Amino acid sequence: MKTTNLGPTDIKVGVIAYGNWRFAGSSLEDADTKIRTALDYSMNLIDTADIYGFGEPAGFGGAEERLGEVLSMDKGLRDQMILATKGGIIPPRPYDSSYDYLMEAMDNSLSRLRTDYVDLYQIHRPDLIVPWAEQARALNDIVKFGKARHVGVSNFTVAQTRALQAHLDVPLITLQPEFSALEQSTLTDGILDYAGETDAAVLAWSPLAGGRLATGKLETQDDPDMFGRIINAIDNLAEKHAASRSQIALAFARRAQANVIPIIGTQKIERIAEAAAAADIELDARDYYDLVEAYRGVGMP
Ligand SMILES: NC(=O)c1ccc[n+]([C@@H]2O[C@H](COP(=O)([O-])OP(=O)(O)OC[C@H]3O[C@@H](n4cnc5c(N)ncnc54)[C@H](OP(=O)(O)O)[C@@H]3O)[C@@H](O)[C@H]2O)c1
Repeated sequence: MKTTNLGPTDIKVGVIAYGNWRFAGSSLEDADTKIRTALDYSMNLIDTADIYGFGEPAGFGGAEERLGEVLSMDKGLRDQMILATKGGIIPPRPYDSSYDYLMEAMDNSLSRLRTDYVDLYQIHRPDLIVPWAEQARALNDIVKFGKARHVGVSNFTVAQTRALQAHLDVPLITLQPEFSALEQSTLTDGILDYAGETDAAVLAWSPLAGGRLATGKLETQDDPDMFGRIINAIDNLAEKHAASRSQIALAFARRAQANVIPIIGTQKIERIAEAAAAADIELDARDYYDLVEAYRGVGMP
């Protein structure tokens, strides 16, 4: 798979990443196979979070715990991946990015992951109570104490990102918004522009809209007209590029102006391989705008 830099760093990662949101219920053997398959296809950026597993039998920390077990079975595996996690969501509060909480959450993540450091620590969602200076103090110390090599944010607006960055000694190297052919706000809300300005990488979560762009199955939150237009446009491009719907959806996310790395979330081995092949599909400008116009419902002005 092609590689790209993880934001302004010299860390090389595959242009598609593997996410662990749906991973907590995996048996140890399956978990091991999924991680090894992702790495075999050069999806070396592995994205997890402490909250993954919450609300499931595995519970809070379950996905990190399972990944930690996989890592403990083969000491060489940790060095093959660029490991990213997140903290700051703590139901029912629901967010806590206070200094004390983030420092403790970081340590708990490291102990579940059975590693001394992560490559990337992200604040999962913006805490609307704790001052940015305090949140920054935690991230500064997390890097200073060697617990994370780099830091980033997820689901932050540009204004929130700038406010946090203003108090940081280190750059926010990644932004993690929801971004897919079905959720294109990121194209116009300034996130991609901020990434272009700072060289931050954009880690696009749910690039297949949680699978709906592959299945074509409308859900209650979807606008039926918009959904129909997007699936139709994806189908046309799938035929043109002899590709699957999910491959076109991933190619769309990658074609954006900034350095966008889609994070896939499938739990099926064969779909990891299918997604990896999307790294070789290059949409042309007209293909891209077909999907943008399908989302807008009108042609570009
Ligand atoms: N920062 C945040 O707030 C946030 C939020 C959500 C997610 N994330 C990150 O983004 C990652 C990916 O999110 P996601 O799992 O929603 O991504 P996704 O890739 O958009 O969706 C994955 C889902 O789509 C299904 N799917 C994939 N290919 C399919 C196909 N060809 N046909 C039918 N179903 C298909 C998968 O089912 P199968 O398993 O059966 O293939 C899985 O349930 C997460 O793991 C996490 O790392 C971050």
